[in-house]
Amino acid sequence: MLGCALALPQGVAAAPRSLVVYFSKTGEQYGVGMISKGNTAIAAEIIARKTGSDLCEITVENDAYPRRYKPLCDAAKKELNSHARPAYRKTAVDISMYDVIFIGAPVWWGDWPMVMYTFFEKENLEGKVLIPFSTHAGSGLSGFDKKLAGACPKSRVAAGLAITGSDAQNKPERVEADVDGWLKKLAAQGLPF
Ligand SMILES: Cc1cc2nc3c(=O)[nH]c(=O)nc-3n(C[C@H](O)[C@H](O)[C@H](O)COP(=O)(O)O)c2cc1C
Repeated sequence: MLGCALALPQGVAAAPRSLVVYFSKTGEQYGVGMISKGNTAIAAEIIARKTGSDLCEITVENDAYPRRYKPLCDAAKKELNSHARPAYRKTAVDISMYDVIFIGAPVWWGDWPMVMYTFFEKENLEGKVLIPFSTHAGSGLSGFDKKLAGACPKSRVAAGLAITGSDAQNKPERVEADVDGWLKKLAAQGLPF
């Protein structure tokens, strides 16, 4: 389904119900120091505002992630290597209500943070259009689109957007321009944003 035209699910009007779901971390982060709002959270808010989507943060239950960058990297590596599926708190919105879901997270070790796989596997995303975005420090989209399609084979996955984390934090106007360009491409695929 990647790269194909993406008709909206049957029965969905020209204005789909859309949601931006994201995971993001505060604390010490690569290249930006201590941050009180995560890079992905900033990007997610921009996308939600530009698309008229609702916003939903995924937060880990019993969050014991370190606030310092290096220990956080070590903790995330352990999760990756053990294929962990950290639990997340009940979402503030009913995911089943939405036709189109933008899904964003920081790249962690070249992959989605493991809690996002918990989300992909636990929620019923069948038939929905999923649109991935990453924030990163140089690795780009890191195959978020293909990994998402693999985890959610009954969903349709649209072209993703990679956002540099330090731009989200320090140059949001760049992110705004990138998001505008991306939304134009999605519109050409039949997604009316
Ligand atoms: C555990 C961990 C692993 C990371 N791995 C990568 C990586 O593989 N490639 C990359 O470009 N950036 C990597 N980064 C940097 C983050 O993707 C980047 O700073 C991101 O914008 C952070 O988003 P957030 O503030 O929403 O958490 C990593 C950061 C952390 C904490």
